[in-house]
Amino acid sequence: MNSKSSIKTIGVLTGGGDCPGINAVIRAVVKTAIYKYGLKVVGIQDGYKGMVENNTVNLTIDDVSGILPRGGTILGTTNRDNPFKYTVEIEGDNHIEDRSDQAIQNMKNLGIDGMVIIGGDGTLTIGNMLSQKGLPVVGVPKTIDNDLSATDYTFGFDTAVQTATDALDKLHTTAESHHRIMILEVMGRYAGWIALHAGIGGGADVILIPEMPYTIENVVKKIQKRLEEGKRFSIIVVAEGAKPQGGEMVIKEMADDPTHPVRLGGVGHKIAKDISCSTGLETRVTTLGHLQRGGTPSSMDRTLSTCFGSKAVDILMERKFGYMVCLRTPHIKETPILEAVGKLKTVPIDSDKILAGKAIGISFGDE
Ligand code: F6P
Repeated sequence: MNSKSSIKTIGVLTGGGDCPGINAVIRAVVKTAIYKYGLKVVGIQDGYKGMVENNTVNLTIDDVSGILPRGGTILGTTNRDNPFKYTVEIEGDNHIEDRSDQAIQNMKNLGIDGMVIIGGDGTLTIGNMLSQKGLPVVGVPKTIDNDLSATDYTFGFDTAVQTATDALDKLHTTAESHHRIMILEVMGRYAGWIALHAGIGGGADVILIPEMPYTIENVVKKIQKRLEEGKRFSIIVVAEGAKPQGGEMVIKEMADDPTHPVRLGGVGHKIAKDISCSTGLETRVTTLGHLQRGGTPSSMDRTLSTCFGSKAVDILMERKFGYMVCLRTPHIKETPILEAVGKLKTVPIDSDKILAGKAIGISFGDE
């Protein structure tokens, strides 16, 4: 193992679904590595696929110039590739093989002494396994869903909430004009952070999240109450993973993604149908989908991403391998990756935001 001063070259990789702010992290990693420590930086292309297939690019200050506000990732990413269970095609047939040794050897051959891995639960779990096999890794928590443990927020979340809030503002004006029920379906498989924050910030009347199973009767009760108050429209925001009491999430299709084998979607339409059947009111559904993952990061995400990227290089130089940077407001700290992965951070149903929402009359469909 290298001594602290022998870290000369680091790699950076982005894995899993993209999210606003990844490029800001890459930029901060490259700038901190070069300006503060005089290191060389290698970018791994298309996540773990690039590690196994040795697809890399040197990253200079020029390469990261101008990428701070840019969405996506300049390195590319994939959901599927796992060096420990790598799909290889042999004579037309797909085989699953452990290519982790090859991936680690490829990095060593490039002189890479440590890796910054930017990812969510699946990507960081693999990163930690590689770290245990001798490839020094530090992690950066990335997901718009904000469902990684051991950090107050992940980067990308703030931008997704802003996108959803903007959508709610727009739906409000058309809902009011047409006296309709407008439903906005947002991302959030098992955690309703986006729905909760956007719902409160966007003035929703009903917020439905996976942590609080709903009944359609409770949702309709809120709509009827508004009608009695002279409010002829209502706004509902629903997380894709919300489910009725005693019921299941709505699955759209199966996915070729080992971390998330099902693709969710359709709960908004199910609720719309149920509402119009029981009230006869006109109901429309907007599914925000990948708009939440795209576009320029908010100022808050740019700042968080920059602090995360810079701190990641610091902890790599401190040889805190197997650690992840995290936000412990107001500090940027580090925590073992194992504290963050494999345990979803869900919305506590007695959290201040839920209590404030209930106090101002928002229905969560649970009562
Ligand atoms: O994990 C982030 C996420 O945005 C989920 O909320 C959503 O279900 C999923 O990604 C969509 O993934 P994909 O792009 O693979 O369809």
